[in-house]
Amino acid sequence: MLLGCAAVLTGCNTKAEENHMTDKKVLVAYFSATGTTEKVAQKLQKATGADIFKIIPQQPYSADDLNWQNPDSRSSVEMKDKSSRPAISSKAENMPAYDVVFVGFPVWWYREPSIIDTFMESYDFSGKTVIPFATSGGSPIGNSGKNMQALAPDAKVFEGKCFSVTVSEDELKNWAKQWL
Ligand SMILES: Cc1cc2nc3c(=O)[nH]c(=O)nc-3n(C[C@H](O)[C@H](O)[C@H](O)COP(=O)(O)O)c2cc1C
Repeated sequence: MLLGCAAVLTGCNTKAEENHMTDKKVLVAYFSATGTTEKVAQKLQKATGADIFKIIPQQPYSADDLNWQNPDSRSSVEMKDKSSRPAISSKAENMPAYDVVFVGFPVWWYREPSIIDTFMESYDFSGKTVIPFATSGGSPIGNSGKNMQALAPDAKVFEGKCFSVTVSEDELKNWAKQWL
């Protein structure tokens, strides 16, 4: 009998661990050109027990493409054109199933990179909660959330936050739990 109870309890614990913080279905989607945002995205995924999707450009960004000091570099040209929509190489599976989507990116020119705009226009986010998160060289996340909201009017897009690459899983968990 005692053993039976222990087995039941263990079963319960296992389920709680699998579910982590929530019964909501959560996705962490991110774009990272040089690996910084990826580190934060992976910690956020662990902290929330979410699924993860990497937004990979169809045409990878070379170092020259990322040169913000060159006004003619690919990133400079894309970011100057609000209608620019760089192609993404694959689609996230089963997007309709997610309730909460964290969207990560590096801040480029004080906002979300154009490929995030492509991502926001690639799915129906109606009724979903979308929370941007970012890394940067010091700039805040700016109007990224507002820009993303305009591209997914039927979603609830929050302002989001910029994190240091050294942010802890605990800190991310504390931040994320308000939506979970
Ligand atoms: C094209 C470009 C524009 C950038 N613009 C900004 C900016 O406006 N403010 C800022 O603090 N950092 C800026 N950065 C720095 C990145 O936001 C920062 O290095 C980020 O952590 C890189 O993330 P990743 O490794 O995931 O690509 C820019 C970087 C690039 C390549």
